[in-house]
Amino acid sequence: MAKKVTKAVIPAAGFGTRFLPVTKSVCKEMLPIVDKPTIQYIVEEAVAAGIKDILIVTGKNKKILEDYFDSAPELESLLEQDKKEDLLRLCRSTEGMANIHYVRQSHATGFADAIMLAKTFTGDDPFAILLGDDIIYTPNDVRPGIGQLVDCFEETGNPTVAVMEVPDADIPKYANIKGESIGKNRYAIEKIVEKPAVKDKFSNRAVIGRYVVDSDIYDVIRSTPPSRSGEVYFTDALGLLAKQNRLVGCVFEGKRYDAGNKQEYLEANIEYALRSKELGDSMRSYILNLSKTLEEKK
Ligand code: G1P
Repeated sequence: MAKKVTKAVIPAAGFGTRFLPVTKSVCKEMLPIVDKPTIQYIVEEAVAAGIKDILIVTGKNKKILEDYFDSAPELESLLEQDKKEDLLRLCRSTEGMANIHYVRQSHATGFADAIMLAKTFTGDDPFAILLGDDIIYTPNDVRPGIGQLVDCFEETGNPTVAVMEVPDADIPKYANIKGESIGKNRYAIEKIVEKPAVKDKFSNRAVIGRYVVDSDIYDVIRSTPPSRSGEVYFTDALGLLAKQNRLVGCVFEGKRYDAGNKQEYLEANIEYALRSKELGDSMRSYILNLSKTLEEKK
């Protein structure tokens, strides 16, 4: 039986160039969706899935992440003095969410290399990987995205990746899989390729940034040949697992947003605002009025 998954790794060393110029000085993980930074949604997803030990792989310009999940004594005592209990609670809410650890990736050497830095943290334990650009919304009665993968990993004993159907136009954005159905929402993956052209796709099933792997992933990455650019692709390492019939795809339930893309980032803001207790009603009437105005102007 597979070991329980209690650890997660969040690679967060990227430059966020798709959001320049703001990412010159604010890291992309701190861009808010309504009132919380995107990284908080990722941490909350892991915590809701029962994962309490989290390693964030940071890089240049990312100290702000450590501050965010830490205490803020000066601000807290000011709020305490002013008896602003609600604000104080909000301020403290990010502090003990999880046991968050950090390691720094000194060079922009990619996803697989970021994972290699997690070895001391994970030891021999299996672990989840959550990419910060993928935000997965699940209603309260549905297991969080990464939780669904953990279940699949624990059931099948095999490394698991999140899978989503995409239209042809989006094929070149994601890793793409060839696989056979092995029951509801599960595929045995035979082949996986990073961002193919539409003509080279295996299927319309794309891999989204959620993974659960064993600690042997480190050896697998080490034995993966580098791509032409010299970078070892994490997807190629997964390809070696697929060759050994050890990779499973899990079609997850929930709505996924690409928060690294301006259009979907804005859509996420609108939809999370509509779901919010505080803003839901007023946003709804604002949007209805706006769409009426837009219709009239057509
Ligand atoms: C990464 C992975 C890719 C995966 C995607 C999911 O790409 O390399 O295999 O499909 O995340 O969002 P990126 O979007 O970082 O270029």
